[in-house]
Amino acid sequence: MSGEISDRAQLIIKSVEYAGTLAKPDGHIPGTLPQVAFSGRSNVGKSSLINTLLRRTRKRIAHVSATPGKTQLINFFSVNDIFYLVDLPGFGYARVPKALKAEWRGLIEGYLERPDGPLGMVHLVDSRRPPTEQDYEMLEFLAGIEMPTIVALTKIDKLKASEREKTISAALQDLKIDRDQMVPFSSVTSEGRDELLNALTELLGVSAAE
Ligand code: GTP
Ligand code: MG
Repeated sequence: MSGEISDRAQLIIKSVEYAGTLAKPDGHIPGTLPQVAFSGRSNVGKSSLINTLLRRTRKRIAHVSATPGKTQLINFFSVNDIFYLVDLPGFGYARVPKALKAEWRGLIEGYLERPDGPLGMVHLVDSRRPPTEQDYEMLEFLAGIEMPTIVALTKIDKLKASEREKTISAALQDLKIDRDQMVPFSSVTSEGRDELLNALTELLGVSAAE
């Protein structure tokens, strides 16, 4: 293959290590590597996306997770010892008590706003579902703090070819983002993996195969 894609830097994943947890917005960040955060509602496909991105099939780093209502934590994973992939907690389907929602927002927003917090965010939205109030709130918050943001439109393999472009356009319009901020993604076909890795490489300013 020739052309644009092969000319672009590829981030080769060599190592992924759990680095630590943030339980409070002003808690201790596990180290000084640059961070990129991942968020999305429960069941959006976040663990699958992270495992696909990092090519973890046997040793899964991001577990199929948490009972809603359980303590929500922010987990840091060191990738190639050059950056932290930061897994933000999401909400389940169930209606969440106000106090818990406030706590969750405080933790996530407090972390995102920190000067020593993430350089950018990947927010996941399910391609087969309309965005939720929490998606809108999150994207508005990110825009407000001028956080570089990529939206991964997950489970894109589930769409028929005929639905694909319509769904992508509708999501761009609903979420008020540009096409170059969106990456259609599938953990089944790995569609979007290289594009997302390239976007992260650019965001973090890391060089190829470092
Ligand atoms: P929680 O951590 O439980 O909130 O969910 P999550 O966002 O981490 O989602 P997870 O990766 O566990 O996936 C949820 C369900 O969606 C599982 O049944 C996955 O197999 C399925 N799934 C995830 N990604 C894809 C995808 O790209 N394509 C298809 N077809 N199914 C997917
Ligand atoms: Mg998960």
